[in-house]
Amino acid sequence: MKLLSVVGARPQFVKLAPIARAAAEAGVEHIIVHTGQHYDPLLSDVFFEELSIPAPTVHLGVGSGSHGVQTGAMLGALDAVLTEHNPDWVLVYGDTNSTVAAALSAVKLHYKVAHLEAGLRSFNRRMPEEHNRVLTDHAADLLLPPTEVALAHLTAEGLADRSIVVGDVMADVLYQVRDAAAGGPSQLLESLSLEHGGFYLATLHRADNTDDPARLAEIVDSLSSLDRPVVLLAHPRLIAKAAEFGIDLATGTLIPHQPLGYSELIAAVMASAGVVTDSGGLQKEAFLLRVPCTTVRTETEWVETIDLGWNVLATSREQIAAGVTRPWPAATDAAPYGDGHAATRVIAALLQH
Ligand code: UD1
Repeated sequence: MKLLSVVGARPQFVKLAPIARAAAEAGVEHIIVHTGQHYDPLLSDVFFEELSIPAPTVHLGVGSGSHGVQTGAMLGALDAVLTEHNPDWVLVYGDTNSTVAAALSAVKLHYKVAHLEAGLRSFNRRMPEEHNRVLTDHAADLLLPPTEVALAHLTAEGLADRSIVVGDVMADVLYQVRDAAAGGPSQLLESLSLEHGGFYLATLHRADNTDDPARLAEIVDSLSSLDRPVVLLAHPRLIAKAAEFGIDLATGTLIPHQPLGYSELIAAVMASAGVVTDSGGLQKEAFLLRVPCTTVRTETEWVETIDLGWNVLATSREQIAAGVTRPWPAATDAAPYGDGHAATRVIAALLQH
């Protein structure tokens, strides 16, 4: 079998790592196409190096732009790449513009396309990720939801006969690095002279939060007045928008910091007193590491983290302050994101179909 993966943004490189490993173990020929949606070394190269992902076979170098410009540039370039490599399966990951571009290009050229992380829904039709995931699910030939909840969404949309629950590949990666990350001292703690458990870890990058000046000012104000230091791992979009709106990120308890590589991020989550984020991946990583999360959104796709008490939604200053200081939830053995072997199931499903 010849498999062609299309990735472009940071969380997709993390998901690609276990897929690349499982494909190699199964003797599957694997072409990796990087769209170039994320191009800063800290958002891209570090993940390939650290997670031992083979270098992309093709790099489209598309870069940033409006949704239409970025997605259109990918579509145009992908047509030629897919035709040249003629894969048995095109695998697309998650919910970014790279995902929907690859799914559209593949389905129109009659290449079979599989969607990893299918069936997630926020039911918020203002989110670009929601457009991307709904369109991709309905275009794809094989849907690989991570959870039973995601399968239920696909069933409600008439897509159950194309769907197989495989578990979550982000759990695969996390379980592989967790023990090593727990053993070593966190460079972040050392460089910022922070104590284990003495700080919160925050990230913010969703357009809903970053692109509205009043909204961004309120969140920065909330994060800068908490009861502990808050290390803010700042995505380039956040830095650009804060500068544009004249909002100072280095204020009060807030400590802006560049994004971290994967194992350093996991070590930092484990050392923190809690996570404040609008990232989907980080909500899940906090849950899998059993660190409480406060999610700066009005809804989440990862509802299991809320139901099990490890995540709360918070948008106002009061809700964020209450979220980070709430008591830690009861311990749980629940494993809604699978057993850490999702990637093997993905490759098996592709080989069988
Ligand atoms: C994208 C995904 C989002 C995902 C996130 C992970 C879409 C619509 N959004 O959001 O679902 O959660 O990736 O991080 O696909 N920029 C840089 N350097 C880079 C990349 C981006 O400076 O390497 C800046 C540019 O100003 C760019 C902005 O960040 O315009 C936004 O980048 P973009 O790729 O459009 O979306 P993300 O916000 O990263």
